[in-house]
Amino acid sequence: MRTIIAKPTVEAIAQAAEILRGGGLVAFPTETVYGLGANALDAVAVQKIFEAKGRPSDNPLIVHVASPDAAEPLAVVDERARRLMAAFWPGPLTLLLPKKAVVPHETNAGLASVALRMPDHPVALALLTACALPIAAPSANRSGRPSPTTADHVQKDIGGRIPLILDGGACAVGLESTVLDLTAPIPTIVRPGGVTREMLLAHLPAVRVADSVLRPLQVGEKAISPGMMYRHYAPRGTLTLVQGESAKVAQACTRLYREAEREGKRVCILAFTENEARYTGLNTRLIGSLESPETIAHALFAALRAMDDAGVEVILCEAIATDGIGLAIMNRMCRAAAFRVLEV
Ligand code: TXA
Ligand code: MG
Repeated sequence: MRTIIAKPTVEAIAQAAEILRGGGLVAFPTETVYGLGANALDAVAVQKIFEAKGRPSDNPLIVHVASPDAAEPLAVVDERARRLMAAFWPGPLTLLLPKKAVVPHETNAGLASVALRMPDHPVALALLTACALPIAAPSANRSGRPSPTTADHVQKDIGGRIPLILDGGACAVGLESTVLDLTAPIPTIVRPGGVTREMLLAHLPAVRVADSVLRPLQVGEKAISPGMMYRHYAPRGTLTLVQGESAKVAQACTRLYREAEREGKRVCILAFTENEARYTGLNTRLIGSLESPETIAHALFAALRAMDDAGVEVILCEAIATDGIGLAIMNRMCRAAAFRVLEV
């Protein structure tokens, strides 16, 4: 199948809506990452997503809606959910709510809950309005790869498997949405993202963070968010996360760099702008500034993909504190590192 990459003109959005209404797949930009969409109410269409991504079918999808009102037919929306929608939609917050019968099992992997979100992107919203359907869309990467933040990333991963990619440029946030489980006794972040725990606490009396956010699942432990079970965000090279005071981190990274170099391996350090001078003469890629950690969220996945493109075998990455958006960044970094974290 030939994949067309189209600028999101009115005509291209109409064509994308046509494809979705006909049971096909379309990749489209959101403010977080690119999504791979299908009609969320059509079990056959949804199955095509799992095939195109190589995704295990027990991993449920997020359903995107055009407005808070559009959530009502799909899930049991209580007062608390309405408050959060009013505060954060459109935006990078996905809510897990009790599912209604119209949502087929294929979409939410047969769970009792369904994940809903209204994206904050003009192209995604125009597409939702044009097709007048809820759109099930996981990130548009091959399963296990870092999520795509440009149309080119989507093309590289699943080009040839889908008819159309709407190219809306680079995604602003760069990490996937926060997933908040509202079916738990205390609202629980099962995946941290652009809407932080601190922001949620302004609207909820208590917010838990699932234990598995910063550590691997223990043997026999059940994932609240099945996506957290799988190897994820992983570049092909071996990534080690180095945590501690920045001068010591730089020393450790430099030492590991030299060791890898002696073994004849291709090495790169992923560093924050503030620390650039500590790595003079070493192959380094800057991944944003600690002063504005949103820049790190924005740059991380593209940096991981660039490591693959350059054939880097050993990747050393500076860690960040876990407050605010730092929690989401560390959640992705820990998984990319398969939890290889060196404390110095
Ligand atoms: O920002 C985003 O959320 C992007 C864009 C495209 O909207 N989408 C995205 O989808 O990241 P995906 O499928 O890559 O990640 C969805 C996560 C997975 O970890 C999945 O297990 C979890 O949400 N999830 C979805 N429905 C769930 C449910 N009913 N219960 C528990 N976890 C659920
Ligand atoms: Mg994903």
